[in-house]
Amino acid sequence: MIPVRLARSVLCAAVAYAMLCVSALAKGNAKPDPGLVNLGQAVYKVKCASCHGPDGKGDGNAAALLSPRPRDFTDGKYKFRSTESGSIPTDVDLARTISEGLHGTAMPDWDPFLKGDSLKAVVAFIKSLSPRFASETPKLVKMGAMVPSTSSSIAAGKRVFQKLQCAACHGTDGKGKDAAATEFTDDWGHDIIPANLAEPWTFRGGSTARDIYLRFRTGLDGTPMPSYKGSASDREMWDLANYVLSLSRKPVWEMNEHELQAFYDELDKVNKANPVERGKYLVETLGCGYCHSPIRKDGSIVEEMKYAGGQHWNLYPFGDYVSYNLTSDKETGLGGWTDDQIKQFVTTGTRRDGTRMIPFPMPWSAYAALKTSDLDAVIAYLRTLPPVYNRIPPPEKLNIFSYLWGKFRMLVLKENLPLTVYEGNAGTTKPGEMSLSTDNRSTGKEERQ
Ligand code: HEC
Ligand code: HEC
Ligand code: HEC
Repeated sequence: MIPVRLARSVLCAAVAYAMLCVSALAKGNAKPDPGLVNLGQAVYKVKCASCHGPDGKGDGNAAALLSPRPRDFTDGKYKFRSTESGSIPTDVDLARTISEGLHGTAMPDWDPFLKGDSLKAVVAFIKSLSPRFASETPKLVKMGAMVPSTSSSIAAGKRVFQKLQCAACHGTDGKGKDAAATEFTDDWGHDIIPANLAEPWTFRGGSTARDIYLRFRTGLDGTPMPSYKGSASDREMWDLANYVLSLSRKPVWEMNEHELQAFYDELDKVNKANPVERGKYLVETLGCGYCHSPIRKDGSIVEEMKYAGGQHWNLYPFGDYVSYNLTSDKETGLGGWTDDQIKQFVTTGTRRDGTRMIPFPMPWSAYAALKTSDLDAVIAYLRTLPPVYNRIPPPEKLNIFSYLWGKFRMLVLKENLPLTVYEGNAGTTKPGEMSLSTDNRSTGKEERQ
C-alpha cells in the first residue's frame, strides 16, 4: 500500500508542479530557462534577424524597405494580443503570430519551419529582449459567449459601428469612404494604413468573429487604432464583430470573368483618381528606393537620404555608376526635369543629353511596360518628395582597352566578375563642394550577385 500511495503523491506533486509551471507560463512571468533562451537566440539569428535586427530593435537589413516595419522587440509593445490595451501579450499570442504570420505584411508564417521546442525557444528569446516580461503579468481580456451571426445581430452591429465611430478612420463602408482621418503613423514614426474592413483575409490578427472582437476590444498597441474597452457591452461587441465580417467582399479567387473585369475597372478608376497614392505604391514595389538611396555597410539604406541617390556601383568592365537623386530638388534632383524627360529615361534608359544607359543595374527595360497612367502616377509621387540637395557625379567608364580586356575575361575566360556596391553617399550634399572621385567615394563595400 505504502509505495502505491507514495507513488501517487509523487505523481500528484509532479502534476501540481507542472500545472504551476503552466500557469506561470500563461502569466508570462516565469523565470526564463537560459537553455531555452539560448536556443531561441540561435533560431532568431538565422530566421528573424534579417528583418527584426541583430538586437531585436526592428532594424534588420530589410527593415527600411518594408511597410509596416518589422517590430522593435525591445519596447515590449505588441499589436495582436488577447490582453488589455497596454498589457504585454501572452506566450500563446506570440506563438500564434509567429506560426500564422501577419497576412498582408512581410512577416511570414513560420508554421512549416518552426514547431515545438524551437517555437517555444524563439518566443522565450523575444520576451528576453524587453524587461517588461520579467516584471509584468499579461492582463487577459474576459469575453462572453460568442453571439452567432444573424441578420438581427448584424443590424445591431451596424449601430455599434456608428456609435463607436469606426467610420472616422475606416470609412462608412469600411473601405475608407468619407473617412475623417486618412493619414496614420505608428508610435515608431512610420506610415501605416487602416485596414480595409471589406478584406478580412488581410486582417493580421485573424478573421474570425473572435479575432475581430479582440482587435477593437484590445486595440492595436503602437498604432492609432484604440481600445474600445468599456465603450460597449459584450453583446454589442459580438454584434459589431459580426457586422464587420458582413462587410467582406467576394475575394478575386472566387470571382467569375465578368466580376473580375468589373472589379479591376473599378480599381483602375480609383487609382486614376488618386495618382500620388498609386505612385507611392508603385515606387515602393518597383524598388526605386533600394538603389536610389545611400546604403550602410550592412546593406541597409540610410533613411534620411531615401531617394536622394548617391549609391555607388562598380560594374566591371562597364564602369562606375552612381544612382541619381530622385527628390524634387531643382538643381540636383528631378525638380529640374520635365515629365517627358523622366518618362523617356524610365522607359528607354535615354538620359537628358541623349546618351543611353546600359540595361543594368537600373532595370529600365522592365519599366518600359508601365502603362501611361502608372508612369504619370510614379512621376506625381516623385514630385512630392521633399527636395534634398545631393549632386550626383556622372558615370565613369573604363578606357576602351581596359573595357575590351574586361569583356575578354568575362566572355572568353568565363571569369565571374563581381558587382560591387559601396557604402555611403557618393554625391555631394553642399553646393560648391567638389564632386568625389571614385577612389575616395567610400571605403566599405557590399557584394551583390
Ligand atoms: C521578412 C521580414 C520578417 C521576418 C524574417 C520576420 N518578421 Fe516578424 N514581423 C515582420 C513585420 C513587417 C512585422 C510587423 C507587422 C505589423 O506591424 O503588422 C513583424 C512583426 C512580428 C511580431 C509582432 C506581432 C505583434 O503582435 O505586434 C512578432 C512577435 C514577430 N514578428 C516575430 C518574428 C519571429 C520570431 C521571426 C523569426 C522566426 C520573425 N518575426 C521573422 C517581418 C518579419
Ligand atoms: C483612430 C483611427 C481608428 C479608429 C477610430 C478605428 N480604427 Fe481600426 N484600424 C486603424 C488602423 C490605423 C489600423 C491598422 C493598424 C496597423 O497597420 O497596424 C486598424 C486596423 C483595424 C483592423 C484590422 C486588425 C488586424 O487584425 O489586422 C480591424 C478589424 C479594425 N481596425 C476594426 C475597427 C473597428 C471595428 C473600429 C471601431 C470600433 C475601429 N477599427 C476603429 C485605425 C482606426
Ligand atoms: C537596381 C537599381 C536601380 C533601380 C531599382 C532603379 N534605379 Fe534608377 N538608376 C540606377 C542607377 C545606378 C542610375 C545611374 C545610372 C547612370 O547614370 O547611368 C540610375 C539613374 C536614374 C535616373 C537618372 C538618369 C541620369 O540622367 O543619370 C532616373 C530618373 C532614375 N534612375 C529613376 C528611377 C526610377 C523612377 C526608379 C523606379 C521606378 C528607378 N530609377 C529604379 C539604379 C536603379
